Amino acid sequence: MIRLEHIDKHFGGVQALNDVSVHIAKGEVHVLVGENGAGKSTLGKIIAGVHRPDEGRVLIDGEPAELTSPLDAQRHGIAIIFQELDLFPNLTVGENIVIGNLQVEHGGVVDFKALAAFCRPWLEKVGLTCSHSTLLDSLSISDVQRVAIARALSMKARLIIMDEPTSSLPDDAIEKLLALICDLRDSGVSVVYVSHKMDELFRIADRITVLRDGSHVGTSLASETNKEELIRDMVGRDISEMTRRTTGVSGVRLLEVNGLTTDGIRDVSFSMRTGDVLGVAGLVGSGRSEIGAALFGLDAIKSGSITLKGQEFRPKSPAHAMDSGIMLLPEDRKNMGLMMGMSVEDNAALSIFDRFQTLGVIRGSRLRKTVEPVMRRTLVKAASPQIAVSTLSGGNQQKVLLCKCILPDTDVLFLDEPTRGVDVGAKEDIYGIIEELAQEEKAILFVSSELPELLRCCDRILVMHEGRSVALLNAAETSQEAIMAMATGQT
Ligand SMILES: Nc1ncnc2c1ncn2[C@@H]1O[C@H](COP(=O)(O)OP(=O)(O)OP(=O)(O)O)[C@@H](O)[C@H]1O
Ligand SMILES: [Mg+2]
Repeated sequence: MIRLEHIDKHFGGVQALNDVSVHIAKGEVHVLVGENGAGKSTLGKIIAGVHRPDEGRVLIDGEPAELTSPLDAQRHGIAIIFQELDLFPNLTVGENIVIGNLQVEHGGVVDFKALAAFCRPWLEKVGLTCSHSTLLDSLSISDVQRVAIARALSMKARLIIMDEPTSSLPDDAIEKLLALICDLRDSGVSVVYVSHKMDELFRIADRITVLRDGSHVGTSLASETNKEELIRDMVGRDISEMTRRTTGVSGVRLLEVNGLTTDGIRDVSFSMRTGDVLGVAGLVGSGRSEIGAALFGLDAIKSGSITLKGQEFRPKSPAHAMDSGIMLLPEDRKNMGLMMGMSVEDNAALSIFDRFQTLGVIRGSRLRKTVEPVMRRTLVKAASPQIAVSTLSGGNQQKVLLCKCILPDTDVLFLDEPTRGVDVGAKEDIYGIIEELAQEEKAILFVSSELPELLRCCDRILVMHEGRSVALLNAAETSQEAIMAMATGQT
């Protein structure tokens, strides 16, 4: 259906793609894998008309094509779900689906009845139960991701590029999307699928292309390769998996939460000692992130108590929480975590700027000296610390966010999906960092939808269900199945 030949793409001094040739057949699911910054999103954006290649050409149905804009690509039957979702928070779900959508007739007048009828089947397909007139801003990030998928589907494209579409989706929605992709394939639609989740991609892939540092390492039939081989091709080395955490809890009492109740959670209790890694499991919307919001002074506490280092603590604001020793890594890096237009190092230092200013002037060299080692520790790959964080690949943005949370050196860290969009190698590195933080006598709350990583990194796992903490399990003595049963309210 589409053929890319000898594609080169530079961004300033960065060579994002180097002589990449690949073709996407009609009705195939073509998976792109590679480390953070390997060039996957860039390749997707070239196919979708967002970027134009410096060298090389694009052929559609055998004819050379100039894709000069996403609208142009849409005319050729190509739609994209961006990794960094690009929807409008101040518009409704329905408006987000129809805006710039060539499947919807334009007459300058919005026909709300027609809009509702147009959107309904697509919202149903992705399992969204909200009305088309809901403001996007009021949705959770996983629902926003579903809107983006519904929008792309509604364009009735021949080729859909999905750049990490499941990074914020709950398990049941992932299942739904994977089934949907198989249906699309059966009806002759091609899908380019980018993901770091190995198990997921092997379930749908026909062929898999590996990129490394902008170069095409190879393309193979999914049936003729395996996870280990792919990882080796991606990172150019074997990855040693971290062994399970075995250290017992022996530190001093640091944080105690008793009967904590806010708008999002009810009667949540747990306690942590220094060196503790406490996993927080549960379905999307079960109140996992809301525990962080309560501890960090974002959500008002209605009842219950928090004791921090032996003292009663009631967070008034994020600044107050940070001063008292609690830091939060938010799930939504684009809207809550990073300032996209600011530089990499300024983002990393965002929460400790005060330390580097005298009379309103930031002492840049001191700041740099403090930030640099932490950026090295979290393996941020950036052309320079001074470039805008928006130009980094998704996984590298996530690492900058981790820097920002480590830098204030707080006693308690609430990490909400810290490995979202991070490649397999760097994930292991982040697990290592969490373990080091624990050894530095901090207490870490680790929220994740990926149960294997919780079972490996945590001492205990708190399971949330409908805003309540329903179990506190010893990680060594439980299983994914047991956690799921509790998270879904079956036990
Ligand atoms: N608009 C841009 N300006 C400058 N550099 C960019 C821009 N877009 C991408 N890059 C650079 O191009 C390289 C490839 O980035 P890309 O986003 O394609 O990686 P990726 O494979 O999608 O990674 P990830 O898994 O982290 O999403 C990176 O070094 C990135 O910093
Ligand atoms: Mg990407």
